[in-house]
Amino acid sequence: MKNGFVFFAGLFGSIALSWGGLVLGSHKQLGGLAPFFDEGDSTSYPNRPPGVAARGQLVYADLGCASCHTQQVRRPDVGADQARGWGERQSVARDYIFQLRPQLGASRIGPDLTNLAGRKPSAPDADDLMKLLYAGSELHPAYGFLFENRPIVGERSAVALKLTGALTPAPGREIVPTERAQSLVAYLLSLNNTYDYPESRPLPKAPAKPDGAHGAAPTAKKEGEKK
Ligand code: HEC
Repeated sequence: MKNGFVFFAGLFGSIALSWGGLVLGSHKQLGGLAPFFDEGDSTSYPNRPPGVAARGQLVYADLGCASCHTQQVRRPDVGADQARGWGERQSVARDYIFQLRPQLGASRIGPDLTNLAGRKPSAPDADDLMKLLYAGSELHPAYGFLFENRPIVGERSAVALKLTGALTPAPGREIVPTERAQSLVAYLLSLNNTYDYPESRPLPKAPAKPDGAHGAAPTAKKEGEKK
């Protein structure tokens, strides 16, 4: 090859430049993000999740929950996430600093889970989540393999599911969540990003009225999304 050196130097240069821009640039911008200390509460946010929740995140990733669930609330001018009750503010980078592997997700077949445990007025509790995972629903896959159906030996297990109706186990048997199910539920219950950081305010306002002057197409798309 006649210009081999120039070719390979150019190739190396463009890879190094894009790596520098993408990896080093983001690291410089976000890598040093520290928790925010609120002097009023004498607490820093976000809270560090308990170890069991960090284990649960691995189970969440392992089972592919992120193929149907996101964990990222968008700004009101970009999507209708806040109107759907998934969060009162957009997600910011600081929300994820203690997460080993943030599960942002890409497609939303189910609802966003970023603020699952902080939902108002009624966030699901551990019993609701266990039941959803064990039995699924019309729209939800069941993860029965995360539970053990076993005979009651001596006393009933303290963590056995409280099931009613058609789901009630046979007499003398109980459904007990495995350690994976318990850590997954602990993880789901740790999803609570409701604290308002300085950078999450002021919220960008959703456009009050469609502005015809800037072309009809984007406006029509936004309206469609809200449905
Ligand atoms: C095939 C897509 C799909 C997969 C995979 C999936 N989900 Fe879901 N999920 C849904 C849908 C759809 C709903 C809404 C169901 C309903 O309302 O009955 C939902 C609802 C939920 C809810 C209740 C949310 C709320 O707003 O109350 C939780 C919690 C949840 N899923 C957790 C999980 C976890 C954990 C996993 C992985 C083990 C998972 N999901 C995997 C589709 C999925």
